[in-house]
Amino acid sequence: MNTENLFRPFSLKSLHTKNRIVMAPMTRSFSPGGVPTADVAAYYRKRAEGEVGLILSEGTVIERVSSSNDANIPHFYGEQALAGWSSVIEGVHQGGAQMGPQIWHMGIMDNHHSGWLPAQPFEGPSGLNRPGFNNGNTMTESDVADTIAAFGRAAADAKRLGFDCVEIHGAHGYLVDQFFWEGTNERTDNYGGKTLEARSRFAVEVIKEVRRQVGEDFAIIIRLSQWKPADYTYQLAKTAQEMEAWLNPMADAGVDIFHCSQRRFWENEFEGSDLNFAGWAKKITGKATITVGSVGLNGEFLAAFAGESSQPSSLDELMRRMDRGDFDLVGVGRPLLADPNWVQKIREGRTDELKGFTKDALSSLILD
Ligand SMILES: Cc1cc2nc3c(=O)[nH]c(=O)nc-3n(C[C@H](O)[C@H](O)[C@H](O)COP(=O)(O)O)c2cc1C
Repeated sequence: MNTENLFRPFSLKSLHTKNRIVMAPMTRSFSPGGVPTADVAAYYRKRAEGEVGLILSEGTVIERVSSSNDANIPHFYGEQALAGWSSVIEGVHQGGAQMGPQIWHMGIMDNHHSGWLPAQPFEGPSGLNRPGFNNGNTMTESDVADTIAAFGRAAADAKRLGFDCVEIHGAHGYLVDQFFWEGTNERTDNYGGKTLEARSRFAVEVIKEVRRQVGEDFAIIIRLSQWKPADYTYQLAKTAQEMEAWLNPMADAGVDIFHCSQRRFWENEFEGSDLNFAGWAKKITGKATITVGSVGLNGEFLAAFAGESSQPSSLDELMRRMDRGDFDLVGVGRPLLADPNWVQKIREGRTDELKGFTKDALSSLILD
């Protein structure tokens, strides 16, 4: 297996990574009261020392009272939380990697199993988490404006603290995605509409505000998924034309890199082509893309939450697509959660030392 192309450097605006491997954003819930601890900093630093090129943080929530459903998920606002993040980026830079926070608003959520609830009801485009399940408020236009501004402040803070880029979480059924999806966006104002393009206006305004806050030279990533937690086979864009109408306005608004979340990167997006989501996003927008989803593992991540173990698997199909130029960067989640030295092992061909993934890797911040 020739993985040479994974180990080329990558440069785009503020980003200059030593290789093409991106640690995928993974929520860990180890930040009591929303403040990342020294353990969290050590966890990221270990991945940097293990030769990850670009680390994307776990989702970290913006300054809205109900942006989170879990007291242990880190905030990206407030003096203490930002001081915690400052230690994180310092350690990651010392370890030799680059990093961006994944800024997040969860939107309408199921109540967390801990029983913790935010001080105000969850908020989203229409109060819906999935069709027929209402668990919060419909955002007013002023809520929408404040939320857009809060995304912008978080991005400005990311730049001020010395992060190398920022990622907007627009995937997986959370707030931004709740606007995209007709199943959760029933609005009749300018943030709703019959077409995906119309329902993308919220995302476009978030991106424009983030761009306004960070300037032209700071790299902006947006993470998107066709699938929803309520429907793994769902496609927001059912054709290449719909995908154009969805992605191009976001590219024009300021996205530099589309992070295309799939459960399995090898699944093709549309009939008649063997391009995956990242392949299509690059072809359509001309922007850089990140592919992700079961790279180096034989089982996917949602089954992993239910307890399914995954074994290491070959990177041949990944490299076939990468060598062809389908995408620029490769997101790796669970292998890096379980093993900070995964990248080194791949680079040195030490495949017999790869660990795979079992659910118990979720219960602590693994440091070696
Ligand atoms: C424990 C865990 C937490 C996750 N949290 C997030 C998150 O905060 N934001 C996000 O966009 N994706 C999240 N994901 C999805 C991962 O970023 C990634 O897309 C997924 O795990 C597939 O990659 P993998 O097969 O390499 O693990 C999470 C995945 C795991 C396993």
